[in-house]
Amino acid sequence: MTASNKILIIGATSAIAYETAKIFAKHGSSLYLCARDEHELKRLADDLLIRGAKEVCFSHFDALSSDSIISSIDTCLEKYPDLDGLLIAHGTLPDQHLCEQDIDEMERAVRINFTSSAAILTYIAPYFEQLGHGCITVISSVAGDRGRQSNYVYGSAKGAMSIFLSGLRQRLHKAGVSVVTIKPGFVDTPMTANIAKNFLFAKPDVIASGIYKAFYKSSNTVYLPWFWRWIMLIIRNIPEVVFLRIRL
Ligand SMILES: NC(=O)c1ccc[n+]([C@@H]2O[C@H](COP(=O)([O-])OP(=O)(O)OC[C@H]3O[C@@H](n4cnc5c(N)ncnc54)[C@H](OP(=O)(O)O)[C@@H]3O)[C@@H](O)[C@H]2O)c1
Repeated sequence: MTASNKILIIGATSAIAYETAKIFAKHGSSLYLCARDEHELKRLADDLLIRGAKEVCFSHFDALSSDSIISSIDTCLEKYPDLDGLLIAHGTLPDQHLCEQDIDEMERAVRINFTSSAAILTYIAPYFEQLGHGCITVISSVAGDRGRQSNYVYGSAKGAMSIFLSGLRQRLHKAGVSVVTIKPGFVDTPMTANIAKNFLFAKPDVIASGIYKAFYKSSNTVYLPWFWRWIMLIIRNIPEVVFLRIRL
């Protein structure tokens, strides 16, 4: 991968995606941004151009609409038939308690955090396969490493995402395309606005810098910040009989 790539960013208005886009812009990349809020997309596009992006285009994207998923990718590939990077960043932190009471809420959470990204990847994978190079980077979460009572709906969607990416990575490896799974711990963004902050929370620019490095190094799975790899190793290895008795 060279520094001046053409990158599609889905969920571009996310705090983590925007910080990552700023780094791509600084390196002169051309960016295609997709998100729900078109006013915000216009504002971000203007800002990223000032920061050094070669070109910034954008279009509307709603993760809950299959038509929107397909048209976002089609219009991006019309503009950049030589697209060589993809970052998927959209997501929500659902109300776990509500998801336990309401099937629709639970399904919505899984659609946004897993099914929509799996649909994007299914639709765009043949393009990358044919291209024969490039990097697909998706933001999953440490929450997907083990189901916990406090957020197992979100966690299971992210866990499914990580497994999907593992299979896709193996499939696309033969074609020379890398698939990077990003697993952040707690990040101080609008998504966690209602959660009391502690020392484990990272700033979105720290996560963005890790994403950018992982993208260019074509890493496989990256925990951000790095220490979450060891925290999750411990959490994954707590025997179930002990896990049942603790509150996490
Ligand atoms: N913050 C954390 O602690 C943390 C930890 C681990 C992983 N992550 C993951 O990191 C990624 C980025 O999150 P963030 O922390 O940067 O949060 P954020 O700033 O709240 O961004 C979330 C983004 O998802 C978009 N989104 C939500 N529902 C959507 C839908 N139906 N269609 C299209 N876009 C939709 C939002 O768009 P609108 O602005 O239009 O709502 C927003 O751009 C997510 O995948 C999240 O799961 C976050």
